[in-house]
Amino acid sequence: MIQAAVLGYGNIGSGVAQVLRQNRDVIAARVGQEIDVKYVLDLRDFPGDPMEQKVVHDVSVILNDPEVQIVVETMGGTKPAYEFVKQALLAGKHVATSNKELVAAHGTELLAIARQQKVNFLFEASVGGGIPIIRPLNECIVADHIEKITGILNGTTNYMLTRMREDGMDFDGALKEAQELGFAERNPEADVEGKDACRKIAILCSLAFGSPVRAEEIPTEGITRVSHADMEYAARLGMTVKLLGSGKRAEGGVLASVAPVMLPMNHPLASVQGVMNGILVEGDISGALLFGGAGAGKLPTASAVVADVVEAALHPHETVLKGWMQPDAKLVPAGRTVRPFFVRFSGSYAEKAEETARLFAVCRVLENIRDGEYAVITGAMPEEEFYEKISARQDVLGSLRMEPQE
Ligand code: HSE
Repeated sequence: MIQAAVLGYGNIGSGVAQVLRQNRDVIAARVGQEIDVKYVLDLRDFPGDPMEQKVVHDVSVILNDPEVQIVVETMGGTKPAYEFVKQALLAGKHVATSNKELVAAHGTELLAIARQQKVNFLFEASVGGGIPIIRPLNECIVADHIEKITGILNGTTNYMLTRMREDGMDFDGALKEAQELGFAERNPEADVEGKDACRKIAILCSLAFGSPVRAEEIPTEGITRVSHADMEYAARLGMTVKLLGSGKRAEGGVLASVAPVMLPMNHPLASVQGVMNGILVEGDISGALLFGGAGAGKLPTASAVVADVVEAALHPHETVLKGWMQPDAKLVPAGRTVRPFFVRFSGSYAEKAEETARLFAVCRVLENIRDGEYAVITGAMPEEEFYEKISARQDVLGSLRMEPQE
């Protein structure tokens, strides 16, 4: 019997206990022995819950118990999760976490400690909820140089954008629904401002490109500026708008960003709807590989955490995660990305055709879709040049990046 402890008995932590209970037989068959939860750490008590008798309020009970081999961290945030996880690794225990904030901020240090201690620090559930993506990057796509990763990495915003595009909902109504369904972070600002997606793409880049990419250095824009009007144009164009996290091997380093992007419906990520996440990995040998599934939610996320618990149980004396070694990756300025843009102006194109053409190459004009305005699709140009050109204009109602044609 392998003993585990769960730190944080919220949505995901209780899901982990449920999965270990519900699928005890299949998990035992895969590991060769049963895995039991010996302790649950939480500030609260849970009368009537199956874990009621296992609740402790002091982490040292877990850290000092040599029987506990695997610690599951599902507290969220970095305080006190970082200290607890570090202490657990230093005590020679494996750690499986769903906490992307922790991994993005302290992954480099925690992985180094795990390697030193010959234990595992695993975080499959930190990116893409229930989608296997960390393990494929670490163990499967290992014959390739990974050239690019593009992902819909936040279920809340994808749910919102889907409801806005498909059902004409407004931003606030869509956010309220996503919160009610339990997808959003405690503070949904992390979702709508793109911070959650930023942490996730930082984690993926750190694994895929070998050296740590710091989340705080990734230019990040969320979906708060995506309007109902943008969606009307997208629908008319046969396109959609998705919040994409992307990372690309570039000359001199890694080019990473998070931003809403207008995509044609035949793009592999355009059909990823609702709370689903999708991750497109492009390798130099394997070509494009698409991973998809539930990106948030109690049981899909818990399934990924338990898969890590199984992985640790199967590799008790070996750190399985490779890559992600110092020194930090150098980030190439995202402003150099060359792409077309969608931009809306007030007024009429008939009156402003010449001045619009002086700003940039106009590839397509959209008129008579909304009163008192027109929109254009520009030719491909560097982001920094586009934003400099529109920054001085009072008549720009909104703009969106478009996926470059490669
Ligand atoms: N708030 C996150 C999301 C939860 O919506 O994707 C899963 O990381």
